[in-house]
Amino acid sequence: MTSTDVRPLRGAVAAALRTIDANLTEFGAGYPGDTTVGQRYRPRGANVGWTTSFWPGMVWLAYELTGDETYRRQAEAHVAGFAGRIHGRVDIDTHDLGFLYTLSCVVPWRHTGDETARAAALAAADHLLTRVLEPAGIIQAWGDLDNAGQRGRTIIDSLMNTPLLFWATRVTGDVRYADAARRHAEQLRLHILRPDGTTFHTFYWDAVTGAPLRGETEQGSADDSCWARGQAWGIYGFTLNYRHTGDPALLDAARRCADRFLSRLPADHVPYWDLVFGDGSGEERDSSAAAIAFGGLHELAAALGDESYAAAADRILASLIAAYGAGADSNALLRHGVYDKPKGVGVDEGTLWGDYFYLEALTRATRPGWTAPWLNEEH
Ligand code: GLY
Repeated sequence: MTSTDVRPLRGAVAAALRTIDANLTEFGAGYPGDTTVGQRYRPRGANVGWTTSFWPGMVWLAYELTGDETYRRQAEAHVAGFAGRIHGRVDIDTHDLGFLYTLSCVVPWRHTGDETARAAALAAADHLLTRVLEPAGIIQAWGDLDNAGQRGRTIIDSLMNTPLLFWATRVTGDVRYADAARRHAEQLRLHILRPDGTTFHTFYWDAVTGAPLRGETEQGSADDSCWARGQAWGIYGFTLNYRHTGDPALLDAARRCADRFLSRLPADHVPYWDLVFGDGSGEERDSSAAAIAFGGLHELAAALGDESYAAAADRILASLIAAYGAGADSNALLRHGVYDKPKGVGVDEGTLWGDYFYLEALTRATRPGWTAPWLNEEH
């Protein structure tokens, strides 16, 4: 962002840290729910579901922003719970092991060399490999591998899970992890990305023959619409997979996702929950899609050497800071997200991932040279 924008950024960081401090008092080494309910997070009983790592992920960002050792200790306290989850096989039938173990275990291992964290993250990567379906070479997203409704299905969000596999190859030298990630990303490029640059939320392959079958939505408005958060995962995810592989086709896929996403933004630069909706639709915005897109657009701008994507990202962040940040009525860092409108879950609420990616955006914007946890670089 330009130097004239520094004050709102500083104010936004301060507000976000105040919210984290208050939430540390309430949730500590436990976990808030996936979303606020009536604008407030409530405690979640156990380390289950796909979003718990966003909480320690935020606390690690607070540490990186401030250097305050209290945050480091509080973030590190989560490693044992995540190690227990993977070794005890608690709710691990999911591709989201990438989200879960990148933030909860790879990040602390990078900061402190914690061997428990490294072993847990590698165990999660090993489990992710068991979800690779041959001959399609895709990683099944949801459910156990015998679940007839989920067999052969993957979703665009999975592009954010493959960084765990690239990390595992880097630290072990075993190329099976990166090979699986590369094949999966290529299949998504070929089939989940549509010719017009929009994306399916989910796509099925025939688990026996490997043939691509059909796209379907789960959280979008319709099978042939474009779920806003999925498109944001596509921008960030394809760019990260390009960074890990150097495959220019993946960079081109990210650019196409970004162009379509940006062409569908309303006047305030924050998308409605499905890109079919625009101003006047009466639908809710998904601020979390905007926060995710910010990181992807900045990585894309750097990879392409095209500052117009960074400028578009900065307009998004300025709008989030101005009208979507912390408010007295909520304990979320970022308000006005949507989890799953078709099912009526988390509509116009704070979301744990929206909070994480908003704080990631603020960190990226205020710490030149900062590298995202999804890349295998040192902080
Ligand atoms: N990864 C699930 C979601 O974005 O809702």
